[in-house]
Amino acid sequence: MAPASSPTDTAVTPAHVAIIMDGNGRWAEARGLSRSEGHRMGLRATRRAVEFFANRGVRALTLFAFSSENWQRPKAEVEALLDLFVAAIEDELPELREKGIRLRFIGQREEFPGQLQQRMADAEASTQANDTMTLVVALGYGGRWDILQAALRWVRESSAVNPDRDAFEGFLSTAGLPELDLLIRTGGEQRISNFLLWQAAYAELCFLDVLWPDVDDAELQGTLDCYARRQRRFGCTAAQVDTVHA
Ligand code: FPP
Repeated sequence: MAPASSPTDTAVTPAHVAIIMDGNGRWAEARGLSRSEGHRMGLRATRRAVEFFANRGVRALTLFAFSSENWQRPKAEVEALLDLFVAAIEDELPELREKGIRLRFIGQREEFPGQLQQRMADAEASTQANDTMTLVVALGYGGRWDILQAALRWVRESSAVNPDRDAFEGFLSTAGLPELDLLIRTGGEQRISNFLLWQAAYAELCFLDVLWPDVDDAELQGTLDCYARRQRRFGCTAAQVDTVHA
């Protein structure tokens, strides 16, 4: 497959992008601010990213907002994050609706306060008919949890005569979303940190040194340019790629 001609060509636009939004704490500490202030600035970068990828025709954007391990952070930081999520859902909902963006939450939502659970359910219900892009917010999410809960439900509920990958994926929290094409991590670390472990099997990985609050359109465009230059093989030889995944 020849390198893509243009990074905005729909043929090379990833259908599903996921982001590990890392670096809020360091951004704040470098400025003598509280980590919570870093998360507030992170939310501004999140808004930019949602708009950027929706305008580029990406079908699904999955954001790692709170991992299953983040509960271990200092109580004040966790509380500030929970308050930020509640406010963000309320503040952003009108614009998401206007843009035709569907909101979906994945993760162990039963661990969150009732008020936040209610906001999540209401936001999902009020955007479920939207189809410009699906914005998936991972809250209380862990990749190992996702695989385990899918396996448990599969054993309990699956009636498939020939259990296969497609049938199993129907039990993952990301069921129905396009295959993950591009996984981005900001903040200089190069690891997946228990994010979309199953889903990232053939995703292209893009690591940025920039801290999440500083991520702007130029940085995001850089990730799409980088994706467009990659040759995706899905385990095949370069010669096979054109015929198998044309
Ligand atoms: C990781 O940076 C970031 C988080 C744990 C929180 C991410 C949340 C937001 C950006 C707000 C988005 C809100 C919604 C509703 C999507 P870190 O604190 O680990 O940074 P560090 O590595 O510098 O300490």
